[in-house]
Amino acid sequence: MTHSTRPQDLRGIPAEAVCAQLLPWLPRQRWFAGKGRTIRGVEVVSAVELVRGDPGMFHLVLGVALEGSRGLPAVVDHYQLLLGVRRWRVDRLDHATIGRVGGDPAAGAVLYDAAHDSELTTWLLERFAAADAGDPCEVGPLVFQRCAERAPRGRLAGLVVGAEQSNTSIVFGDDVILKLFRRLTPGVNPDLELCLALAGAGSRRIPQPVAWFEADFEGEATTLGLLQEYLRTGTDGWELAKTSVRDLYADQDLLGIGGGTEPLHAHEVGGDFAGESFRLGVATAEVHADLARTLPTAIAGEDELQSLAEQMSRRLDAAAGRVPELEPYTDRLRDAYRDLAQLRREDHPVPLQRVHGDFHLGQVMRTSTRWVLIDFEGEPAQPLVERRALHSPLRDVAAMLRSFDYAARHLLAERRTGQSGAPAPHLVRRAEEWALRNRDAFCAGYAKAGAVDPRAEPVLLRAFETDKAVYEVVYESGNRPTWLPVPMSAIRRLAERSPQSSPAG
Ligand SMILES: Nc1ncnc2c1ncn2[C@@H]1O[C@H](COP(=O)(O)OP(=O)(O)O)[C@@H](O)[C@H]1O
Ligand SMILES: [Mg+2]
Repeated sequence: MTHSTRPQDLRGIPAEAVCAQLLPWLPRQRWFAGKGRTIRGVEVVSAVELVRGDPGMFHLVLGVALEGSRGLPAVVDHYQLLLGVRRWRVDRLDHATIGRVGGDPAAGAVLYDAAHDSELTTWLLERFAAADAGDPCEVGPLVFQRCAERAPRGRLAGLVVGAEQSNTSIVFGDDVILKLFRRLTPGVNPDLELCLALAGAGSRRIPQPVAWFEADFEGEATTLGLLQEYLRTGTDGWELAKTSVRDLYADQDLLGIGGGTEPLHAHEVGGDFAGESFRLGVATAEVHADLARTLPTAIAGEDELQSLAEQMSRRLDAAAGRVPELEPYTDRLRDAYRDLAQLRREDHPVPLQRVHGDFHLGQVMRTSTRWVLIDFEGEPAQPLVERRALHSPLRDVAAMLRSFDYAARHLLAERRTGQSGAPAPHLVRRAEEWALRNRDAFCAGYAKAGAVDPRAEPVLLRAFETDKAVYEVVYESGNRPTWLPVPMSAIRRLAERSPQSSPAG
């Protein structure tokens, strides 16, 4: 095992040759955050040889310099890569191939993303198994730490999960799952920090953390990967919710509804989701309560609420500049932020705490016994200080309410018919009803668990929901224009509503 910062070469392969192969490969990776921007250069910032031989494996930290563009400054982002090196190409790893170095096949080597090579990733699992609680296993600058009594079972084959992800997760058998954080920011990753806090509080609402590994990066112990209990019976919340919505539409189609028959309501179809939404509300409130109990809390100062409202307002201005559809609503949307800025500490204290930070139906899993929350990393695009800052837990609630809206409406966006391109009105009504019913059930569950009833906090909820919907409008108009009607329907609703009316709708 050798280790070098500023490596000249990786066991005979010049670092520049590796970087030349990485240059076209990086932008094609789902987790690469600099998409659409020009890469000025890639360099290997540090390299650790983990496995020597054929296949061999290196741990690399890459510095990727991006040109400034569209108001964004030039930056250097850092990524973690497990680099696999093999003498000969292997069919099963073709999808993970980065490129070939050395020209002549006989003398050269194939470079690939070793996260996809179970022959190599088992090495990581063995390092975790070798660490004891309180007695880390060190491999050069990499430190493997265990936080659970039980050791992971060693020598299990690893399989990369297929989800569209901002990181890369490897499942070992049906025992544990290792999340490799791709983009590195110096410091402890909030996913690890909050999982350890919640496990310490005895929470059963998270996959139990088993181990992690870290290394010094820019002077700080920086989380590289988190090993957790694999939820064998877990199903993604987004998939479950979509199934319920699909059932609702399928039943309408089956009955030929729209042609005079009485339509079916969300509570009458087989896949009603409201019971699950209620239980998800309970789970969310429990996690918020445990976070508030174990990590710092505060009451928002009036200046803080004001500056939050100003930030939201600035985001609205920027969004309206880019998406003209927003323009007719901006004045009334701004009312939501004005109401937020006017909350007075003495008659309306706003509690702050650590929160999930990137909450939606794709970040929760239903196991055979309960709802579990995953991925406490926060929004990966935000700086770490912002992701670790204290926020109102209603920010998470508002984000989940937006997700219910998405689940209800995105199928409509995909099945637009007719010349106007507008979805059939009876389906729009059913979508609205589904969203309303499940948003309400979620809030009821949240309140049932002893937390504040979100429906009794219309000012906060409306401001957070508006801010989120504005973000979604910009995102959809740039990336998926056919989905733009989804957040636009929320924008219209939020612009109409006075804060005194029902927030769940
Ligand atoms: N503990 C777990 N058990 C089972 N599947 C999991 C677990 N953690 C994550 N997954 C699966 O991996 C996907 C991505 O995980 P997530 O932590 O959200 O990664 P990312 O940061 O890339 O979004 C999840 O949507 C889920 O399908
Ligand atoms: Mg996620």
